[in-house]
Amino acid sequence: MKKILVIQGGGRPRGNTAQLVESFARGARDAGHEVEIISLIKNEVKGCIGCNMCRYGKPCVQKDAFNSIVPKMTEADLLAFASPLYFWTITARLKAFIERFYCVARYDPAPPFGRYEKYPEKDCALLMTAADDFFWTFEAAVSYYRLAVVNYIGFRDMGTLLAGGCGDTNGAPQIDKTDHLEEAYLFGKNIYA
Ligand SMILES: Cc1cc2nc3c(=O)[nH]c(=O)nc-3n(C[C@H](O)[C@H](O)[C@H](O)COP(=O)(O)O)c2cc1C
Repeated sequence: MKKILVIQGGGRPRGNTAQLVESFARGARDAGHEVEIISLIKNEVKGCIGCNMCRYGKPCVQKDAFNSIVPKMTEADLLAFASPLYFWTITARLKAFIERFYCVARYDPAPPFGRYEKYPEKDCALLMTAADDFFWTFEAAVSYYRLAVVNYIGFRDMGTLLAGGCGDTNGAPQIDKTDHLEEAYLFGKNIYA
């Protein structure tokens, strides 16, 4: 049994992303894992202000939900980042959340090439929805995830689920007319299989 924490970086309450996350969580729970979903709309996390107080042993000075999420991250085996695609990348809310990893970094006396500090060892995954479904639709988002979360922070990538063609935000969410919910269920169910 693994502990999975889903960080949902936005989207409508019953929108495409929320449905994708629910299917992923159902699959993971059916496989015996414990899943908690945290919405960054309900739990506001602001971007880093670069004050560097966290580099002097203090918790983050910002008064928002981040400090209460840190213990949940510490306990989790896997962080699943979920987001609708906004202007070709992850939402500002999810980007702000990732910036705050600055204050969970620890001193590393011998960092590997290109890294300056040590981060907790975790598995990670990326779940996204979008209106478009071209071969470039998720390019910037996936590139950022691989560069910042996998290569730099050092989390182990357990996979990405990129759900294009879900309909735009002018109408009802249309992910239920695609195969993505079934894919998300199987992704969750088999993530540690
Ligand atoms: C501010 C905004 C920006 C968006 N930018 C894009 C985009 O760049 N490319 C795209 O394919 N869809 C874009 N969309 C559409 C959403 O990604 C898509 O409808 C998504 O599934 C909505 O998620 P939700 O139903 O969870 O809210 C955008 C929607 C909004 C509201």
